[in-house]
Amino acid sequence: MASLFDPLDLGSIELANRIAMAPLTRARAGRDAVPNDLMAAYYAQRASAGLIISEATGISREGLGWPNAPGLWNNAQVEGWRLVTNAVHREGGRIVAQLWHMGRLVHPDLGLAQPISSSATTAPDFAHTYEGKKPYVEARPATTSDIRRIVGDYVCAAKKAIAAGFDGVQIHGANGYLVDQFLRDSANFRSDDYGGSIENRLRFASEVLEAVGDAIGMDRVGIRFSPNIYSQGVEDSGPIPLFTALAGRLEELKVPWIELREAHQPTSAGAIPTAPVSPAMRKLYSGKILLNSDYDGPSARARMAEGIADGISFGRPFISNPDLVSRIALRAPLSPGDVATFYSGDARGYIDYPMLGEAAAA
Ligand SMILES: Cc1cc2nc3c(=O)[nH]c(=O)nc-3n(C[C@H](O)[C@H](O)[C@H](O)COP(=O)(O)O)c2cc1C
Repeated sequence: MASLFDPLDLGSIELANRIAMAPLTRARAGRDAVPNDLMAAYYAQRASAGLIISEATGISREGLGWPNAPGLWNNAQVEGWRLVTNAVHREGGRIVAQLWHMGRLVHPDLGLAQPISSSATTAPDFAHTYEGKKPYVEARPATTSDIRRIVGDYVCAAKKAIAAGFDGVQIHGANGYLVDQFLRDSANFRSDDYGGSIENRLRFASEVLEAVGDAIGMDRVGIRFSPNIYSQGVEDSGPIPLFTALAGRLEELKVPWIELREAHQPTSAGAIPTAPVSPAMRKLYSGKILLNSDYDGPSARARMAEGIADGISFGRPFISNPDLVSRIALRAPLSPGDVATFYSGDARGYIDYPMLGEAAAA
């Protein structure tokens, strides 16, 4: 049985340990979506993670609806990300870019046009904009030429990620964003090849993975899902059959690793999880599986002992514990985070969380 401190290969990416930093939107990039020195300092502090999965990063202006989140569609963004990847590599870490199209969750104030989705639907609740929260607007269904264009945008962003020095990419297939809007049947009402049957609902994710794999090598590609929770209006009437079929497809495509945000308790947004899908996926998928949500050191060790997970990713604990790997190794207490600075702000609540020795000295 593997321990959290054993090395792990995710395709061509060699990890020194099995503690990954989950993707965390922190919104410090500014309106031009260009990463900066502050972000480089933040990621470098967390480089002892076996793998850092970057905060969700827009593949296009159309697909990015989160104020001050970063992008990867122009050269200034490539240069900005290079500050981050160089800083992480200098500290011996590994980092992949999480590639993001938000679909119907992009407000026109940010996306500059009517949002696009699998179907003509409107997300529940409110969008974050630079002028505060506003109701979402109805999306227009993607045409097949839109789909080709968006798949092309994923490819461009993946190439830019490699040009920026990332070790690979993770496609964001979780949390109710565009890939999830095609995958799960509460948001996809299409009657063409991209909707209806499970086979058809897998098509968009499959095409993105295949195209990105062809462009940068499948050994540098992973994908994330949130199979057993309701996310921003997206859920499925049959998660086990859907994600079992998906596991078979990922196996055929030779995708080397997946990350599942597989909750075992209600999320902070109040979503009650359904049964975990990872046991069924494990039987059909021979790639590496990282599991996420609500772990601390002891529960992560216990999950590893069950033999389904190859590694554990931690989100909130990494915000407030830059040296989380050492803390888990030493069974040291974890510092709590300040939720007020999770999604916006400056250096405070971002790069000022103490390392273990500093906490003791303070
Ligand atoms: C501040 C914050 C930002 C997040 N941003 C992202 C994101 O950019 N992409 C993503 O897939 N999930 C995102 N998530 C979800 C986390 O990756 C993770 O799934 C969630 O926090 C549960 O894991 P945890 O219990 O270890 O925190 C975010 C969560 C938080 C709290």
